[in-house]
Amino acid sequence: MAVIPVALGGRSYEVHVGADLLDRADGLLAPFLRKPRVPVVADAAAWAAHGERFTAVLSRGGHEAVVFEVVPGETSKSWAELARLTDWLLGEGVERGDHVVAFGGGVVGDLTGFACAILKRGCGFVQVPTTLLAQVDSSVGGKTAINTAAGKNLVGAFHQPSLVLADLATLATLPLRELRAGYAEVLKYGVLGDRAFFDWLAGNAAAVLALEPAALEQAVATSIGAKARIVAADERETTGTRALLNLGHTFGHALEAETGFSDRLLHGESVALGMALAARYSARRGLMHTGEADAVVQAIADAGMPSAVANLGLDCDGARLVDHMRHDKKMDAGTLPFILLRGIGEAFLARDVALDDVASFLDEELARR
Ligand SMILES: NC(=O)c1ccc[n+]([C@@H]2O[C@H](COP(=O)([O-])OP(=O)(O)OC[C@H]3O[C@@H](n4cnc5c(N)ncnc54)[C@H](O)[C@@H]3O)[C@@H](O)[C@H]2O)c1
Repeated sequence: MAVIPVALGGRSYEVHVGADLLDRADGLLAPFLRKPRVPVVADAAAWAAHGERFTAVLSRGGHEAVVFEVVPGETSKSWAELARLTDWLLGEGVERGDHVVAFGGGVVGDLTGFACAILKRGCGFVQVPTTLLAQVDSSVGGKTAINTAAGKNLVGAFHQPSLVLADLATLATLPLRELRAGYAEVLKYGVLGDRAFFDWLAGNAAAVLALEPAALEQAVATSIGAKARIVAADERETTGTRALLNLGHTFGHALEAETGFSDRLLHGESVALGMALAARYSARRGLMHTGEADAVVQAIADAGMPSAVANLGLDCDGARLVDHMRHDKKMDAGTLPFILLRGIGEAFLARDVALDDVASFLDEELARR
């Protein structure tokens, strides 16, 4: 069991990490619950697996969970679902001082967080992340958003939760592919800023993916600690520190766009591939030793994730992937910042990357066998 503080002055909160935390949810949530009825926005699959337990624990503390179920999948991060949810929250009489529980993965966390950011100009919310990706990344840091016809996460707000409860036992029902996709974000913290953690993961990836309790807790708590430090240093991504968390995301976003944001490539898988490309591109530019880039690619492959774009079977060239990048929301007055590497654990923000050069590099990568 670990408790990690996210230090943000008046918006500070704690992230609790441990097995079977849900069994103590009544006590942990008590300071945030003012009324007997507790609005819970839940991913349908996560709720089917763990909702009964959560409901029983809340009722032990004298609370009744009233549930708004969200259909699993990225399409639920929509204007239509946001309207349905805010209408429901208003119908439930949620007030500014109340807290809503987001129970599920990043989709439910992002949707609920955004609804709570705008409901009556802002009400409270608590994150109960049930995917590895949500536990180590999306539930911490206060980024909330929905998707629009123009792209992913283009409408949203910064709105910090009041508490995060990451119950490691909920991961037991997560499909292996989703677990691996979340592991990409764990690996990312090592690659971007913590060489010792990267080396530790090399020997413990199998244990983490097998949900071995001690290894899993160490991996999740270390990841959240890294995210908490970065968010505390640069809450609104204005100084460049928080931008380091985008390692792998610019390349990855282009691959997600090319595969239609579909199950062909999960978000975490695109981050893994994007990290491999960022490492290989850094080596190609002479910023990082080739052997170090190979170690990043190997760590991704060892975790059972796609690590080479040539194997994706894409019918496109580098220029087309770069076109997708031009629509990236990080595009800034004609330039696109990239997170590159000087070594494992040494990510930095590069503003001098020529997109033509990236297109040539991607052509080479797409042709590699
Ligand atoms: N806000 C942020 O800072 C941030 C950061 C990274 C990603 N994101 C967003 O997060 C989303 C991806 O999140 P995700 O990977 O958690 O995906 P997700 O929320 O779509 O969940 C993945 C799948 O797992 C299922 N699921 C969830 N918990 C389960 C459980 N315990 N047992 C069985 N099945 C379960 C869901 O039904 C779904 O099918 C994307 O929309 C991405 O944009 C946000």
